[in-house]
Amino acid sequence: MSPSALRRPLLVRTRDDLQRELSVLRGTGGALALVPTMGSLHEGHLSLMDRARDLADLSVASVFVNPLQFGPGEDLERYPRRLERDFELAAQRGIDLVFAPDPEIMYPDGPPQVRVEPGLLGERLCGRFRPGHFQGVLAVVVKLFGLVRPDVAVFGRKDFQQTVLIRRAVHDLELGVEIEVAPLVRASDGLAMSSRNVHLTPPERREAVGIFRGLIAGQEAFRKGERSGPSIVESFSAVVSGYPAVRLQYAEIVDPETLEPEEEVSEASVLAVAAHCGDVRLIDNIVLGAEEPDPRISHSR
Ligand code: PAF
Repeated sequence: MSPSALRRPLLVRTRDDLQRELSVLRGTGGALALVPTMGSLHEGHLSLMDRARDLADLSVASVFVNPLQFGPGEDLERYPRRLERDFELAAQRGIDLVFAPDPEIMYPDGPPQVRVEPGLLGERLCGRFRPGHFQGVLAVVVKLFGLVRPDVAVFGRKDFQQTVLIRRAVHDLELGVEIEVAPLVRASDGLAMSSRNVHLTPPERREAVGIFRGLIAGQEAFRKGERSGPSIVESFSAVVSGYPAVRLQYAEIVDPETLEPEEEVSEASVLAVAAHCGDVRLIDNIVLGAEEPDPRISHSR
């Protein structure tokens, strides 16, 4: 019988409690999966938890709104926080342990002095608009790996650039954690699930779907034989321009590992985008050659 079937999942908020419960869990044996999150869980996160349980015998989720990855003027203060609900949802998904530290517990000596430098990968795409963001992400992810010592960690594909950086950090620093990237989960109209979607007003929420429709237009252009990166981006932008509430920050087609912009694209190329809708920043991406769209979704306005 799996440990999850034997015990009620636990919520721990301190390092000592985390270590105590981890050693109890580890005593039951088996591989351990970690799902790092910033909470306010949605179907996307829950699918990461399902994946974690498929991959490992023991599962830990973290819920921590990491101040280091928010720049000045970004939405740290208003980032949604719903710990009780998150814990219930994680428990329903069979997670064994939820670690939800306060910032003073995560960073007892203040922000860490020694950081992982994301390098060029962190300067591309979102990195151009969010200086320091990926350094903050890597700081907390490496710390969580050190605290939890998972065999595998599961991240969502929506944060495409983040997953590329985390894989690269694990490779470059020999962190010894397997990184699993789970598929992006979309609402029934195609909008990528994000904790920030709760801040969209109803009209903004209706318009936000333009991002997905633009991505589908880009993918369709590729399917019809277009191989020029800029032309595919144009197909994307033409659709998005029909949704005035969506203000594009960038749309680029990049190599899936180096994140270098591509003039000439291939099946593996990724069309990655960021846009503001009202004051909510949304990101999304699509692999040009991948099976993506839900056939129930209408692509026209
Ligand atoms: O993807 C997120 O929610 C965050 O960037 C992560 C990986 C939990 C680090 O804070």
